Amino acid sequence: MKNSLTLQNICIMVGDKEIIHNIDLEITPGKIHALMGPNGSGKSTLANGLMGNPKYKLSKGRIVLNGKNITKIAPDKRAQEGLFLSFQYPPEIGGVTVANFLRAAWQAAHKKKITALDFYQILEKKMVMLHLDESFASKHFNQGFSGGEKKKMEMLQMLVLEPKYSILDETDSGLDVDALKIIGKCIKYLTTKKKMGVLIITHYNRFLHHVVPDKVHILSHGQIIKSGTKTLAKEIEKKGFKNM
Ligand SMILES: Nc1ncnc2c1ncn2[C@@H]1O[C@H](COP(=O)(O)OP(=O)(O)OP(=O)(O)O)[C@@H](O)[C@H]1O
Ligand SMILES: [Mg+2]
Repeated sequence: MKNSLTLQNICIMVGDKEIIHNIDLEITPGKIHALMGPNGSGKSTLANGLMGNPKYKLSKGRIVLNGKNITKIAPDKRAQEGLFLSFQYPPEIGGVTVANFLRAAWQAAHKKKITALDFYQILEKKMVMLHLDESFASKHFNQGFSGGEKKKMEMLQMLVLEPKYSILDETDSGLDVDALKIIGKCIKYLTTKKKMGVLIITHYNRFLHHVVPDKVHILSHGQIIKSGTKTLAKEIEKKGFKNM
């Protein structure tokens, strides 16, 4: 069995329209892939389809995670298999603290209980990595969070869950330079120390200075039209997508 997150001939429909056409991609442990492409090319559609959002229907193809076909299983089960997805527009949930939300997510992913005290030990270390103040844990999940705090919340969730593979949709958007650096470090920690494989969806080569990709792919009209190394991201920055 080969360890990888493999997409085989993936097609995704939104309503009755096919947005993603025949995508093949293989992400192996510890590797960083960047997915770039113009607005509306289908990046978020691909991310949503992979996570099993019911609005985004996988009409063709297979998703295989470390040898297991996860194409037809529900989103929470995909998370249990070790797949993590960040949201471009994360939801606000009322009445749940950050600590309680993350503890519930941890318990669901590990299929076992953990006491609040034991969980706090884990959480505290991760909050330090993100330069978050202790008081963050008792805030209400995403409520009244600034754009940057929401992104840090996603990263905190990823650090707590230590998924095998992550798909990060515009995690870098709206972050100040310091936050960009911190989040870059967290992603690097997970890819190098925990061998997480990651697909980073981004518009900016700037972010890729912090998390240097092993591979860069360009999505256009729902298809990967070019793959290359980090120099491809530099080329995009210089020339724009139209001249690729
Ligand atoms: N829920 C939806 N309902 C209707 N159309 C959708 C939906 N989600 C995506 N689409 C359509 O699919 C296409 C791809 O959109 P998507 O959001 O995947 O692009 P993107 O590459 O993530 O763009 P951006 O860089 O702006 O985030 C667009 O034409 C969009 O209108
Ligand atoms: Mg998008």
